[in-house]
Amino acid sequence: TTKAVILVGGPSRGTRFRPLSLDLPKPLFEVAGHPIIEHCFAAITRVPEIREVFIVGYYDESVFRDFIKDCSRTHPNISVKYLREYQALGTAGGLYHFRDAILKGRPDRFFVLNADVCCSFPLEQMLRLFEEKDAEAVILGTRVPNDSATNFGCIVSDAHSKRVLHYVEKPESHISNLINCGVYLFATEAIFPSIKSAMKRRADRPRLVSYPSSDALDSQYLPQDEEDEDGEKTNVIRLEQDILSDLADSRQFYVLETKDFWRQIKTAGSAVPANALYLMKAFQLQSEELAKPSATILPPVFIHPTAHVDPTAKLGPNVSIGPRVTIGAGVRIKEAIVLEDAEIRHDACILYAIIGWSSRVGAWARVEGTPTPVREHSTSVVKNGVKVQSITILGKECIVADEVRVQNCVCLPYKELKRDVANEVIM
Ligand code: GDD
Ligand code: GTP
Repeated sequence: TTKAVILVGGPSRGTRFRPLSLDLPKPLFEVAGHPIIEHCFAAITRVPEIREVFIVGYYDESVFRDFIKDCSRTHPNISVKYLREYQALGTAGGLYHFRDAILKGRPDRFFVLNADVCCSFPLEQMLRLFEEKDAEAVILGTRVPNDSATNFGCIVSDAHSKRVLHYVEKPESHISNLINCGVYLFATEAIFPSIKSAMKRRADRPRLVSYPSSDALDSQYLPQDEEDEDGEKTNVIRLEQDILSDLADSRQFYVLETKDFWRQIKTAGSAVPANALYLMKAFQLQSEELAKPSATILPPVFIHPTAHVDPTAKLGPNVSIGPRVTIGAGVRIKEAIVLEDAEIRHDACILYAIIGWSSRVGAWARVEGTPTPVREHSTSVVKNGVKVQSITILGKECIVADEVRVQNCVCLPYKELKRDVANEVIM
């Protein structure tokens, strides 16, 4: 059998997702009408042999309760559980800590998905490669432009056999443009021993402190949970730094290169391309959820059934409208997310933007960002020589007065914008 783990991190992460993560944990933020994590879960449910899913993180116990209830309702044959780390244990530390739960029922292998990526999650293809190669690990990879590769884990592979020869997490200089998508399939009998030996290596390595101290003899060796020079907890074990390069050296480790879409969801602005990619996928699959194309609906567009959209408003492409949103006459919205209870008054224009929960955009106002090329894995643009936010984001309960223009700004919650603003963070 096969299981799946979704790594969600915790409240100390996702800081780049502010201001949208101020009120809601990032994995629950909705893109294309569904929480980010639900897109991962949906992909898992398409693999028939997966009956058990673990959400692993260090958020409060209550955070995923409603989400898990929904999953159990829609997929009663799949067990979904939240496993909470008492503190951040790292991407491999969490797996190891909960190994008993993962190993119960003796699964041969399990998937691990980073919750903060947006892709088509070709899990079945990964399984096929795993079986074909009799692999111990399969990683999902994608090609990115050379200049962005070092922001990710980089994979050097044998083009013919697809074997991973070399893995370096966020290398300092270019080694490959095939990068780690944050989706893995591991053989249980290979990964846990690997994590265990990484932990042992670490424990065996005495950690000399560089400064002299009064009780030098006692304090020469840092206890396990002290911070090391990188400010990292030494009992944190990360797949990327501590495990994957070892697997590449010694194991049956293969890469499945996806040609389909892939994006990371880190900054708040990256929700806009993620929304677009998932909407386009839903459109290709002719999803019933999407709004029907018409003279005023340029697909793909998602409109929540409880939203009210004036028939003269023109929406799309790549627009998601949340629950109870109201959109007035003559409004134009494209490449944007409008969150729950927001109100867009008549003739306003929203482009490349996210409108926060219960915010209000006045009549004839314009809230706009700048498009970024789809191939680019960045959500900032350079304007007049300065790096600015490409997507304009209004936090929760913001107000944009009538006829005001907001360009390339991030606006923290509860702000009222009465004047035109550009290229600013409004605090
Ligand atoms: N449970 C748990 N515990 N989850 C964690 C922890 C932890 O201590 N730390 C991080 N995570 C989760 C995050 O929520 C995220 O889903 C995933 O693990 C990886 O997060 P990071 O550790 O921040 O790594 P990254 O996103 O910068 O880079 C990783 O993903 C890239 C693809 O998006 C690496 O795997 C890269 O190699 C990869 O290219
Ligand atoms: P392309 O689709 O790129 O050809 O652009 P377009 O100029 O045909 O306009 P599109 O329908 O894509 O809408 C985007 C444009 O709508 C914006 O650039 C605005 O100039 C314009 N717009 C601005 N304010 C409003 C408004 O209040 N209502 C409507 N309907 N449109 C507006």
